[in-house]
Amino acid sequence: MVKNLSQTRALGKCISKLLKKGDLILFTGDLGAGKTTLIRETLSNLGVDKRLVTSPTFSILHQYDGADMPIVHGDLYRIGEGGDLVETGLYDYIDQGTYLVMLEWAEFLEESARQDLAPLEIEISFPPLGDSDERIVEFRANMNSWEQRLILLKECLEKEGITIEGAGS
Ligand SMILES: Nc1ncnc2c1ncn2[C@@H]1O[C@H](COP(=O)(O)OP(=O)(O)OP(=O)(O)O)[C@@H](O)[C@H]1O
Ligand SMILES: [Mg+2]
Repeated sequence: MVKNLSQTRALGKCISKLLKKGDLILFTGDLGAGKTTLIRETLSNLGVDKRLVTSPTFSILHQYDGADMPIVHGDLYRIGEGGDLVETGLYDYIDQGTYLVMLEWAEFLEESARQDLAPLEIEISFPPLGDSDERIVEFRANMNSWEQRLILLKECLEKEGITIEGAGS
């Protein structure tokens, strides 16, 4: 649970330490909950100018030059369900394994694709009660390759004073 924007900034810093080229991070959750904001805070720790990180809702894919790797930031909202993802070139970026790919509105990816691509999934939602700047951020991953990294994430979050709930699977 992040309490405000400054904790979202700290969360972005913690996430940025985990990421490597070839990673696929899928963002899901409530409309306007803060996906773009968290991606901006994360990428600013990877050498991307914050001003460049804007919502790719209309362009679908943005590309940035990170310090250690090229980055693709996508948003499937406008493509919607059953849209033609192949045309966007998204899969080419993922398959190359040299990009860090961060995708908003990943609920529009087919479930089978989500399984195959071994992503880290980050869901951001508004708590039912609470301050307007509070967000619930959930992490999910099936792949072993994320297990160790999620432990590191937890350690970082504890240091930043971010409250962790649940098993954190
Ligand atoms: N703790 C917080 N974390 C993230 N954003 C916050 C927080 N508190 C307030 N906000 C505000 O919430 C808004 C989130 O907007 P943002 O565009 O990041 O959401 P989004 O999930 O990408 O939206 P969309 O569903 O349209 O893609 C911003 O205006 C941001 O300043
Ligand atoms: Mg967005």
